[in-house]
Amino acid sequence: MVRFRPKRSPQPAVDVPDPSDHGRGTHPAVYVERATKVYNEGTPEALVALEDITMRVEQGEVVALLGPSGCGKSTLLKMIGGLYPATEGRIFVDGVPVTEPGELTGMMFQKPVLFPWLKVVDNVLLPVRTQGAKRADFLDRANDLIALAGLSGFGQRYPWELSGGMQQRVAICRMLMGEPKVLLLDEPFGALDEMTREYMDLELRRIIIQQNRSALLVTHNPLEAAFIGDRVVVMTPRPGKIAGEVEVPLGRDRSEGLLASDELNVYIREARSLLELAKDSLL
Ligand SMILES: Nc1ncnc2c1ncn2[C@@H]1O[C@H](COP(=O)(O)OP(=O)(O)OP(=O)(O)O)[C@@H](O)[C@H]1O
Ligand SMILES: [Mg+2]
Repeated sequence: MVRFRPKRSPQPAVDVPDPSDHGRGTHPAVYVERATKVYNEGTPEALVALEDITMRVEQGEVVALLGPSGCGKSTLLKMIGGLYPATEGRIFVDGVPVTEPGELTGMMFQKPVLFPWLKVVDNVLLPVRTQGAKRADFLDRANDLIALAGLSGFGQRYPWELSGGMQQRVAICRMLMGEPKVLLLDEPFGALDEMTREYMDLELRRIIIQQNRSALLVTHNPLEAAFIGDRVVVMTPRPGKIAGEVEVPLGRDRSEGLLASDELNVYIREARSLLELAKDSLL
């Protein structure tokens, strides 16, 4: 099977100036250093969306970003993905300064944005096809990903023949096709009903761990945040700042049974109260 080798960003990896890196020889998957975002800066419509954000995602770590609507979660994710520049501060992915969208990150949004005229397998193949790769060279990999996402037998169907949850699985496969190191997920299951969302959370966590990726998942749901995250980072209302974080030491493999467990509930409650404190500006 041919592996897709993404082109690296032209910038060399730099040492992230964070004392806790010394001696480890690895870069965090994501490092945001004192980032601020002002939309429409210098105009009467100027809006401070994010203020002095410093955060990191370690290699292989899954971090959930939890915050109220409008606090700047999507803005932060888009800045890490290179879609928007930071007004102040610096952002690194895998030690490389982010200046534009690159192959180190893969993004997924609330809606799957699939092409209705392409079969599932061809939607999955898009990231390599747009780079000029031959379909046949990557077909096995696409089919492996389709199987990994529990969609065996649906490769030859069109997106409109699938349910909402199945369409989001296709979007997960497409994101993984380009072999990004860091997955940036913006409320990927926000449009699904609660039961399907919980099931998809379970599947997503399984796939991230199995594929050994790092991920940053945006949500405003404390249950989703604690179940998916090794750590939950909580933000204040706009201008978004980091209010605090909750470690969720519940292991790498998380099963369905955990979803309704007292164990998980402890961390859901912690994340929820931190969110409430942040909302009431009591921190
Ligand atoms: N392109 C833009 N131009 C100007 N302002 C913007 C832009 N995108 C977002 N904003 C503003 O920045 C703030 C943060 O928006 P953002 O979409 O990042 O919030 P969010 O936390 O993702 O919210 P939600 O949970 O509702 O998705 C909002 O006040 C929004 O109006
Ligand atoms: Mg958003």
